[in-house]
Amino acid sequence: MDHLIAPSVLSADFANLQRDVEMINNSEADWFHVDIMDGMFVPNISFGFPVLKAIKKHAKKPLDVHLMIVDPDRYLNDFKDAGADSITVHFEACTHLHRTVQAIKQLNCKAAVAINPATPVSFLKDIIAELDMVLIMSVNPGFGGQKFIEHTYTKLAEIKQLAINANPNLLIEVDGGVDTSNISKLKEAGANVFVAGNSIFSKDSPSDTISSLKHI
Ligand code: DX5
Ligand code: ZN
Repeated sequence: MDHLIAPSVLSADFANLQRDVEMINNSEADWFHVDIMDGMFVPNISFGFPVLKAIKKHAKKPLDVHLMIVDPDRYLNDFKDAGADSITVHFEACTHLHRTVQAIKQLNCKAAVAINPATPVSFLKDIIAELDMVLIMSVNPGFGGQKFIEHTYTKLAEIKQLAINANPNLLIEVDGGVDTSNISKLKEAGANVFVAGNSIFSKDSPSDTISSLKHI
């Protein structure tokens, strides 16, 4: 399978959001990655429903919504209504993860589970068959522009191995510190969906960087 590129809107210019959404529409990107942070699960607050709806209004590609919030069950319906096409919840934020995953599927959204850098891949073993996607965090969630954690390669190989038997169509997404220097090795390790924020939006031509990430 060809890999997918999901630019992280967190690194966009919020005063020029429509411009940056159009840039992604007109680029070779596949999805919009939208980071929701509540100041509780992570030590940062990003944005909520009004901004998500504003993105949806202009976006011509699916919205991949990454919830870094405690007890996400409370808001799944609202995220669907605001335009989410896939919803990612954190393993560390869900007491009844199986129930939460079923609730996301009931909404006809792709269901994904993220794990923090210190959470073992083996904790996903009993839920992997239910998932459309797993998100391996390659930084501690909360901020764009952080340094990539090298141990991620090992974790990608582990999740790929688990998926071979349990869920061969599983999408494996990696998020944090992805750029043109590490994307090939990440793909070799097993990732097939790549989130990138800072490495795209810090460039003079974000659209060309998206193309470079797409054609590796
Ligand atoms: C981090 C977010 C990421 C972030 C990635 O908590 O989940 O999606 O925007 O940004 P970069 O690519 O700059 O590390
Ligand atoms: Zn993210």
